[in-house]
Amino acid sequence: MSFPEARMRRLRKSENVRELVSGVRLDARDLVYPIFVNEKISARRGIAGMPGQYHHPLQGLGKIIKECESAGVSGVLVFGIPGEMDELGSQASADDGIVQKAVRTIKEKSNLVVFTDVCLCQYTNHGHCGVLAGNGVDNDRTLELLAKTAVSHAHAGADFVAPSAMMDGQVKAIRGALDESGFSDVGIMSYAAKFASSFYGPFRDAVESSPKKVKGLPNIRDRGTYQMDFRSVRQAMREISLDVREGADIVMVKPALPYLDVIAAARRTFATPLAAYQVSGEYSMIKLAAERGLMDEKKAFLETMTAIRRAGANFIITYAALEVAKWLNEN
Ligand code: PBG
Repeated sequence: MSFPEARMRRLRKSENVRELVSGVRLDARDLVYPIFVNEKISARRGIAGMPGQYHHPLQGLGKIIKECESAGVSGVLVFGIPGEMDELGSQASADDGIVQKAVRTIKEKSNLVVFTDVCLCQYTNHGHCGVLAGNGVDNDRTLELLAKTAVSHAHAGADFVAPSAMMDGQVKAIRGALDESGFSDVGIMSYAAKFASSFYGPFRDAVESSPKKVKGLPNIRDRGTYQMDFRSVRQAMREISLDVREGADIVMVKPALPYLDVIAAARRTFATPLAAYQVSGEYSMIKLAAERGLMDEKKAFLETMTAIRRAGANFIITYAALEVAKWLNEN
């Protein structure tokens, strides 16, 4: 009789053997939790398309911050929903804006690493990530506003600002503005390879940031002229390389699961710490499938998140952070 060439099953013999040879493991400390802070509400409000996720009022932040601390995640990524939107998204950089206030509160109450999303789309009435001019999104005018927004976040106490508008030169503009304003110790996590993705659907619904028509302004239906074409890994490498040169301290690939190849390539090519963002659509896909009894939620999150770490991400930004951290801490 002929024997198998190798007996791989010896490495799967028991749980402890499997642990020893696993090569990668998830840890609550590798997680960052996104928080939505809404200026227009006074009580926590559920997000319909993202089961288990909420808009928080400023006054309600204490509770969620405590949950983050007891779950043992390392940081939070703050998104704001302002009371007012306008053509230039002016609330994004307001000193008493919702993110600025939220950051002050979080820093007062905790040691969590505070990342802030720097973009205009939640703040503009047309939903684009930059200033509309002529018949498009004006890159260089947007840079000034992003830089101003980043400085206001730094002023409030953010540890890392996270530009997500996909404007060319945004990292350089922000680095320069931070340094000039005396914030050389505030870091930049750039959404370096951010793809134009349908997986942002539930998020845009949640923050009302889908591009929409406003009278008198050009009607641009999607973000295809600034977010990346999902077909090209080489463009992603150029984007990351530019951001590293411009001064990014951490680079990010977003979404995560459909782009494991990009995460792996980025890991091989750059020494800069790498974040991956498991976005709203990735989260809701698992949640809704689990609600219908089609998947085991816990196993599906652990599997996808382990895959993202295996591909090479140092840490994961995910809406499942608190639940997953609890599961990990049970073991
Ligand atoms: C803002 C921004 C978006 C997300 C994070 N920052 C939306 C977008 O680009 O449309 C998406 C996050 C998610 O889907 O979880 N530009």
